[in-house]
Order: sequence, then C-alpha cells, then structure tokens
Amino acid sequence: MLAMKPPMGWNSWNTFGRNISEDLIIETCDAMVESGLRDAGYEYIVIDDCWSKLERNPVTHEMEADPEKFPHGMKYLADYIHSKGMKFGMYSCAGTKTCAYYPGSFDHEFLDAKTFASFDIDYLKYDFCYKPRLANGPMLYNRMSMALKASGREILFSACNWGSDEVEKWIRSTGAHIYRSTGDIHDSYDSFKDIAMSQLNLLGYSGPGCYNDIDMLICGMYGKGNVGRSTGCTDDEYRMHFALWCMFGSPLMIGCDVRNMNEATKKLLLDKELIAINQDEEARPPMAVTGGVNTANPNPNTLCLFKYLANNEYCFGVFNFGDRERTIVASLYDMGLPVTSGYGFELVDIETGETLPQIYNENLAVKLATHTCKVYKAKLVPTK
Ligand code: GLA
Repeated sequence: MLAMKPPMGWNSWNTFGRNISEDLIIETCDAMVESGLRDAGYEYIVIDDCWSKLERNPVTHEMEADPEKFPHGMKYLADYIHSKGMKFGMYSCAGTKTCAYYPGSFDHEFLDAKTFASFDIDYLKYDFCYKPRLANGPMLYNRMSMALKASGREILFSACNWGSDEVEKWIRSTGAHIYRSTGDIHDSYDSFKDIAMSQLNLLGYSGPGCYNDIDMLICGMYGKGNVGRSTGCTDDEYRMHFALWCMFGSPLMIGCDVRNMNEATKKLLLDKELIAINQDEEARPPMAVTGGVNTANPNPNTLCLFKYLANNEYCFGVFNFGDRERTIVASLYDMGLPVTSGYGFELVDIETGETLPQIYNENLAVKLATHTCKVYKAKLVPTK
C-alpha cells in the first residue's frame, strides 16, 4: 500500500519551472544521495510540467518527451533514479492542456497511464487546468486513478485541484494518495503562513492512504527560481514553514535547488526530529490550542498546535506570526488537562535537546521573537 506515511521527495516546479532537463534531474538525483536527503526519507524525484513535446504523436496519440530537454527519454531517467535507490515521478493534467499549455490527459487517460507505466514511473502528479466545463473533479480523478491501476504498475497518485469543490470530502474515494488543498505556494512568508492557516480546520480529513498536500516546500529558495519572490524568507521563517508542514503531516516535497543548498537549508531539511513528527506512525492531525483562524481562541499572529504521537508521546508547536516579540500562552485546561488530573507535561526542546526544568500543568507560556517558532516533544508525567 502506498502513502501510509506522507510522501517525501523533490519536485522541479518551484525552482526550475519550464527549465528542466535530463542533466538537471541526474544532478539532482546525485545531490539527493550525496547530501543525505535520500537516506533521510526523501525518496521521490518528480518532474513537474513542461516535460513533453507541445503536441502528441500524430499517429499513436501518445505523449512524448521533449527530445531537446530529455534526449534519452524518460525510461532512461527512471532507470538512473531507480539505480540510486530512489523513485521517479512525473506530471500530467486532468484537462485538455496542462497549466503551462502542454498536452493534458483528458480523454487520453488510459493511453497516458500506459505510457507513464512504460516509463516505469512511481508517482503521478495530476493537475486541474483546462478541464472541460462539464467534467467534474471526482469523475476526472477517478478516470486517471483507474487508468493507473489498469496499467499494472504501482503508482502513487497525487491529485492537484487546489482545494476546489471541497476536495477533502471526496478525494479519498477516488483512490488518490495525496491531494493539493490550496493554490500555489510562493517563496514568501505570507504565502506559507496563509496556506497553513487556511487548512487548520481541514486536517481531520488527512491520514494514511490520502494526505492533505499543502504544496511543495520553499525552504532554501531565498527568492530564486520559478516561484521566487524578492528575497524569499529568512532561515527562521523557513524553519516555521518546515515545522508547520511537519506538524500538519503534509507531504514533504523539496522545491529548492538541492545541488546548491547552503548549510542552514541542509540542516533544516535533514532535521530528524521534525521529520519524525511528520512521519509519525499514528499520523494524527494536530489541533490548534490557541491562535490561528477559526479556532476557539483565534489570533492571526499566534498559533499553538498540539499533536498526539505514537508511543504515548505528544508534541507542541508554538509560532509567532506577529511583527514583535510576544509570549504565547496556551491553556492546558482548555485542551483537556485540568490541574486536578495530577499530571503535567514534561517538554524537550527539539532544537537543543534540552528537557525544560518545569513540569507544565496549567499554562504553556512561550516567549518568541518575531517570526520564530519552537517545537517541543512532550510526555505526560505525574506532578508529584
Ligand atoms: C499548477 C500547480 C503547480 C504546478 C503548475 C505547473 O499551478 O498547482 O504546482 O504544477 O501548475 O504548470
């Protein structure tokens, strides 16, 4: 079975857009191995839009790789990626054209699935541009889902309809393994913050077999590339972004140029504690204890998330989205732990590995500089 845990990998779109090539994919694959990203769990290398010729083959109607970008074809790349112990992903679209106006799969689903299977792909991202007006999302995603099954190859199906038509309510029924729930991310603080806030009340639909995908990571882009914006984000902000994606249980698809990562980016993307929270066996969505939007105690500038982990562990993520230092206070009573329980939380700061001296049984109060976060692993312990 696929997607028992949120898939992890790399996707070409955020940095490279239409500037993709065989050399880029091979160099990226090598960099994933050498940097340790593969061994940390990032297993898929996904080529997004703009890989094909602008027209299908006039005789067979098959999609064909652009020979300038991919001179040895896609199967060659699949073989290379597989030889490095990684998996290979590609892209198509439920409409007549992809979002960048290359051929889409509408009415060619079963043929295209066969073509993709002949390339030995392991993952298909399936977009939603240029769909015929009368064709609805469930029908279109079912078509490709069944076509992939019929192809005989096990292929992770990544639906990408940007959260339209209340996708979370029906997408699991289509056999898709992950589903994009928002519009496209940009390399900016507001972009990842707004995306995260928009999904706070929709994470209950996400779980093993079909995860809410809040888009590819922008960590390490620093404003460069296809979805770059001015200077991008600070390292603290990229840590907030990665911590949110990990706590939400979103797929972790790296979007930066992994051939040229700086040390801060490498350290963040390889953070074992955050990755373990993302890949936790129980895959439970977090709850917003305080802050955020549409919560019991809303505040657009703060957020405290609480999440159950396997083995009787928990974690807290505290985020300061405001533009000044503030102390964020979460009431443990409100989240179900009265002082009279005789228990409190023992916290470990996952960044420093330090156990905090205090046992928390009333409030968790965390002072945070602007645009920073803290993530703690927690255990319930008797207070006396
Ligand atoms: C849409 C998707 C993006 C990317 C582009 C490619 O906008 O949401 O993630 O795949 O199409 O054109």
